[in-house]
Amino acid sequence: MCGIVGYIGHREAYPIVTKGLRRLEYRGYDSAGVMLYNEKGINLCKTKGKVSDLEKKAKAELDTKGTIGIGHTRWATHGVPNDVNSHPHLSNSGNLAIIHNGIIENYAPLKEELKNRGYTFKSDTDTEVLVNLIEEIQKTEKTKLGKAVQIALNQVVGAYAIAVFDIKNPEEIVAARLGSPLAIGIGENEYFIASDATPFIEYTSNAVYLEDGEMANIRLHKPIKIRKIKDDSLVTPTVQELQLNLEQIEKGGYDHFMMKEIYEQPNVIKDTYRGRLNANKGIVQMAGIEDNIEKFLNAERILIVACGTSWHAGLVAEYVIEEFARIPVEVEYASEFRYRNPIINKKDVVIAISQSGETADTMAAIKLAKENGAFVFGVCNVVGSSISRESHAGAYTHAGPEIGVASTKAFTTQITVLTMLALRLAKAKGTLSNSDYHRYLMELEIIPEKVKEVLSTNDITKEIALKFKDSTNCLYLGRGYNFPVALEGALKLKEISYIHAEGYPAAEMKHGPIALIDEQMPVIVIAPKQGHYDKIVSNIQEIKSRSGKIIAVVTKGDTQVRELSDYVIEIPETSDALSPLITTIPLQLLSYHIAVLRGCNVDQPRNLAKSVTVE
Ligand code: AGP
Ligand code: GLU
Repeated sequence: MCGIVGYIGHREAYPIVTKGLRRLEYRGYDSAGVMLYNEKGINLCKTKGKVSDLEKKAKAELDTKGTIGIGHTRWATHGVPNDVNSHPHLSNSGNLAIIHNGIIENYAPLKEELKNRGYTFKSDTDTEVLVNLIEEIQKTEKTKLGKAVQIALNQVVGAYAIAVFDIKNPEEIVAARLGSPLAIGIGENEYFIASDATPFIEYTSNAVYLEDGEMANIRLHKPIKIRKIKDDSLVTPTVQELQLNLEQIEKGGYDHFMMKEIYEQPNVIKDTYRGRLNANKGIVQMAGIEDNIEKFLNAERILIVACGTSWHAGLVAEYVIEEFARIPVEVEYASEFRYRNPIINKKDVVIAISQSGETADTMAAIKLAKENGAFVFGVCNVVGSSISRESHAGAYTHAGPEIGVASTKAFTTQITVLTMLALRLAKAKGTLSNSDYHRYLMELEIIPEKVKEVLSTNDITKEIALKFKDSTNCLYLGRGYNFPVALEGALKLKEISYIHAEGYPAAEMKHGPIALIDEQMPVIVIAPKQGHYDKIVSNIQEIKSRSGKIIAVVTKGDTQVRELSDYVIEIPETSDALSPLITTIPLQLLSYHIAVLRGCNVDQPRNLAKSVTVE
């Protein structure tokens, strides 16, 4: 995720681009940059930090004149946030400038080939490879910018929303998208390009949204030309009259960032396994693991340290790594681990899970682990964050910025990375049969489709929320893989609706908590067909016989649990080990709707912060 902005027209580009970047900072904010074109040529300014840092730097050193410009506010995927890795990137000749939102999966082989042809690279980004590939194609095919971009994009595997400028043809910007959003604002003899309409909504409400696989030649004094990247066929632009206001657009038309992020999960799960998972080829690999696979295989145990939702993802990882790879796993609250004088061995592998990569307790826990000689592997969502830099190696989730304090897409992308780890280790150890290994790869690859299907239960979940919005207590029950999901569902409800909720292993109810059950106590039971189904049915009967109100998450077509429950939310059939990626979705939606109905501040709940950098 990041923000891209471009302008070509009759106004000064600099204020439009920088103001537009500020509006897009919610999409990513680790570094920023701007390129302007005027009679002196290309003027570039970029810096680590926020757009405000860019404006300070530009004030001191940039010639901000020019009616053509492109700008970028970055959410790094390849290359830590610093000045050099910031966008825009120039080609070797300095003639081309590019801004990019997305991930070029096959950037490494392309970079090698370009190096063999004499290209040099200043940055560690995948984007700089793309702009030099376009330049190389211009040279070898003797084509103009548009054609060169088209040929290059047909060689690229990944996701992108790009804007490219060529000083040799300064009246044009070429834009293209696949997998990342791109809107084109159409004004009076001026065009705007942006990740969404917020940068140009005050100038024009006429917009064209490129579809995946489309590119646009945007030229002054000419109508916009849109074509399909694959076959060059022309596309008739559909100009929309935007009715949304600024805030609505930032939230993608949703009322809250949390809901937007819940709905982003199919895409960001795909972004997280993009370039790492290929079920057809039976491949799952992440650089940080490949380079350290022996440490994992020789580990006597894997310790997982995390907090909150990330700790719940760690619990899921315990189940899936032990089941698939048969390596002992212990999951610890980082805040407890760091103070209890734990036994840490040199052969231990410690996995630190943290969305923000800045959680103080988790940071302290890995420092303690490193002092005792353990190998630390970080699973973070923020490239270049403290925990990612403190870890010996790691694998990023590609969830994009998570603005809502209640973690949703971070949880499912963490589980995606940890499941890929478990499969990779199982493959290396031969602890999964070939058929099971391939089956899980295939199923993981289609999880985004199943998540999309579960999101369609939103209206049913909203109806259920209406019935329980005034509850004062709530129980979440699950077994096996769905015990951590029960904990996570309870945390979601607590932190955004302020209703007291507890997650419990369903079988534990008879050891005390069942005393809580009465007709005032809603009990959410996660009861998919796979995984201890008969046992959970018995648990539901125990609750039913004590007049508990039951909301059950069931596999589509289930009748047995349906008969016992007051409400059911259906999910597609999923293997037990991958079910948390699916069963957590209805619980996210339920807590969201209850919180909204209670008039709570969903994105910024009371007493909480997005990143707990204090102890
Ligand atoms: C989850 O919804 C909470 N916002 C919180 O528990 C969070 O998961 C925890 O603070 C850990 O944050 P981290 O993943 O950034 O380390
Ligand atoms: N993959 C590119 C980078 O890491 C773009 C990331 C983004 O979308 O901001 O620079």
